[in-house]
Amino acid sequence: MSESKIKISNLHKAFGKKVVLDGVNLELRKGESLVVIGGSGTGKSVLIKCIQGLLTPDSGSILIDGEETVGADREQQAALHSKMGMLFQGGALFDSLTVWENVAFGLLENQKMPRKQAKTEAIRVLRQVGLAPDVADLSPSELSGGMQKRVSLARAIATKPEIIFFDEPTTGLDPIMAAVINDLIIESAKGLGATALTITHDMASARKIADRIAMLYKGKIIWEGTVKELDKTDNPYVLQFINGSSQGPIKVEI
Ligand SMILES: Nc1ncnc2c1ncn2[C@@H]1O[C@H](COP(=O)(O)OP(=O)(O)OP(=O)(O)O)[C@@H](O)[C@H]1O
Ligand SMILES: [Mg+2]
Repeated sequence: MSESKIKISNLHKAFGKKVVLDGVNLELRKGESLVVIGGSGTGKSVLIKCIQGLLTPDSGSILIDGEETVGADREQQAALHSKMGMLFQGGALFDSLTVWENVAFGLLENQKMPRKQAKTEAIRVLRQVGLAPDVADLSPSELSGGMQKRVSLARAIATKPEIIFFDEPTTGLDPIMAAVINDLIIESAKGLGATALTITHDMASARKIADRIAMLYKGKIIWEGTVKELDKTDNPYVLQFINGSSQGPIKVEI
């Protein structure tokens, strides 16, 4: 078994009385692609934000490369951030910046790369995700949803991060564009040798990009395994989720 990149133990996070994470245990090995599935509002985005240090967990431990990040000071947090890339749910591109400035954001802001060099680098990464150099000077608002996802992906990988988070990378895309983005995720993560944590509702996408799948339910990881194991599981929660059935142990609160 290869070395641990991220190790989450007994992680808790509540907002007021609402308990979102209730003892999450999860480990990602170096270079592995893990997909977290789970219903809307189960805390998938909160989990990623805790790992990134954007939210402070109430208790528990998150080790990255063996180092504790819960309670880390600003300097340690900044060092951690520089290892990470993120494709946000909904893209979250800055409309006040051009496409290339969005892609080069981490290079300009964190790495202090000169603008000219950063633009050349951004155009190289845009090509990598299948976008021509002439989109570089456009505003994100001038692009289609699928192109915006590509730009978000380019931004996530531009700093060559060791860890990449993808939050709903294929939501809202047609099936073909979703497949293209899946391939790009695999290529870019494997190409960088990065450890990838993806959140998705899209089971086709999960099957394609996952080395391992974990299901979050009621604040805990209730199942984890490979795609092969997913196909053989008799776990009623997992079966209900992957079959998209309204009947089963998972009750949707309306
Ligand atoms: N900053 C916050 N303040 C208060 N509550 C929050 C905050 N962030 C998330 N929550 C709550 O935590 C719960 C989990 O939210 P989260 O965004 O992690 O869900 P999710 O699993 O990513 O759902 P979806 O699949 O719809 O994106 C929700 O009930 C949400 O309202
Ligand atoms: Mg979410």
